[in-house]
Amino acid sequence: MRQQIAAANWKMNLTFDQAENLLDEILKVPHDLQAHQKVVFAIPFPYLQFAQNKISEIRNFFTAAQNCYTQSRGAYTGETSAEMLQSIGVGYVVLGHSERREYFGESNAMLEEKVAMALTYSLTPIFCCGEPLQIRESGAQNGYVEKQLKESLFNLHEEQIQKVVIAYEPIWAIGTGKTATAAQAQEMHAHLRKVLAGKYGDIIAGEIPILYGGSVKGNNAKEIFSQPDVDGGLVGGASLIAADFTQIIDALK
Ligand code: 13P
Repeated sequence: MRQQIAAANWKMNLTFDQAENLLDEILKVPHDLQAHQKVVFAIPFPYLQFAQNKISEIRNFFTAAQNCYTQSRGAYTGETSAEMLQSIGVGYVVLGHSERREYFGESNAMLEEKVAMALTYSLTPIFCCGEPLQIRESGAQNGYVEKQLKESLFNLHEEQIQKVVIAYEPIWAIGTGKTATAAQAQEMHAHLRKVLAGKYGDIIAGEIPILYGGSVKGNNAKEIFSQPDVDGGLVGGASLIAADFTQIIDALK
């Protein structure tokens, strides 16, 4: 059965005390998830080990990093490797977020290297893709997002692509309060699954989780997640509010 994931992307938010409180608030609620339903917290690097210790015993809960480097180790001041993340038990890594593409110049080619590195160290990449507003307005979004997938993922072998999670995040919906409609999300997710099927076949494409991200809130998650090709969400702002993120986790059910 295809996995469903509620993923929190805290981005560069929260002090340590705030992070601890938020996790405690969310974890004190019994979530009672099924085996194929997961909750992932993409946490700032300084708190990852702490968060990992806190949730490692909780079934179906995992930590993620928000980035990793293209190399395993060496003289790369300020960078963090997939090997380091694996060594503290982190399970996932968000790669190719539009903020990293825009502010840190991450290209499809660089992301191809990062995805490969994550897989080498048994991290599940949450590979982000999504179009800017002007591409959406010109109607060229399907081809744009398809290119991101092809250039970063399509050199993976069959057994590798099955370990990837995709997050479709239209840039115009990130942090704007303007979510894609459930129908727009479904349309793009179905398109991406078709593109994946063209390369890897229907069975493998049918098993790859595709999350939606962009102004997911407690009160719209259920409708978005109910779409047949939407397998959960990657959540920014609302993941910083315990009640909201709890509602989003419950929307998986
Ligand atoms: P918002 O939920 O704040 O729109 O952010 C989405 C996002 O970028 C998650 O990675």
